Amino acid sequence: GRSLEETLERLVADVPDFPEPGVGFKDITPLLADHAGFTQVVEALAAPARDTEGAVTVTKVLGMESRGFILGAPAAMQLGVGFVPVRKAGKLPRETHAVSYSLEYGEATLEIHTDAIAPGERVLVIDDVLATGGTAAATIELVERCGGVVVGVSVLLELGFLDPRSKLPGTPVHSLLVS
Ligand code: PRP
Ligand code: MG
Repeated sequence: GRSLEETLERLVADVPDFPEPGVGFKDITPLLADHAGFTQVVEALAAPARDTEGAVTVTKVLGMESRGFILGAPAAMQLGVGFVPVRKAGKLPRETHAVSYSLEYGEATLEIHTDAIAPGERVLVIDDVLATGGTAAATIELVERCGGVVVGVSVLLELGFLDPRSKLPGTPVHSLLVS
């Protein structure tokens, strides 16, 4: 089979000047459309939830609305554990924990059902992109409010120049691509 590097090179499209001039966008839709490539990338994102023998070491995979759902849900299925959605404010119907964080302009709020993660559960967090780290940091706080433990944050792309890891002290970060 192809190496992960080859797969990402072949199926993640670099789109210059999107959404605005001077910004380079990584489009993963060709990857999602390729069964073998998508499977390989989801396996790589899920890998931090396995020990050296391949045994699964988490009880939940969590994905953040919306793009984290696309990658997190199939990772949970591959690992044989449940999936937990973290959603934008006002979408979850039952009792929630909520965490707000600041964006470039204004602020955003993420929520989790209070019973989505039981105390002591080990959780792998999956998203497409780690930029400032604000989304991931808020998500870690939500898991901790439930009494769970984030064993790692796994992303397809890390924008290293924004230094997201400084917002995630003590949490292992796994990135398939760093730019
Ligand atoms: C994007 C991306 C990550 C987040 C990363 O989501 O999918 O979740 O930004 O940025 P950060 O590290 O600076 O927080 P966005 O909030 O645009 O929403 P979407 O997933 O619904 O497109
Ligand atoms: Mg997102």
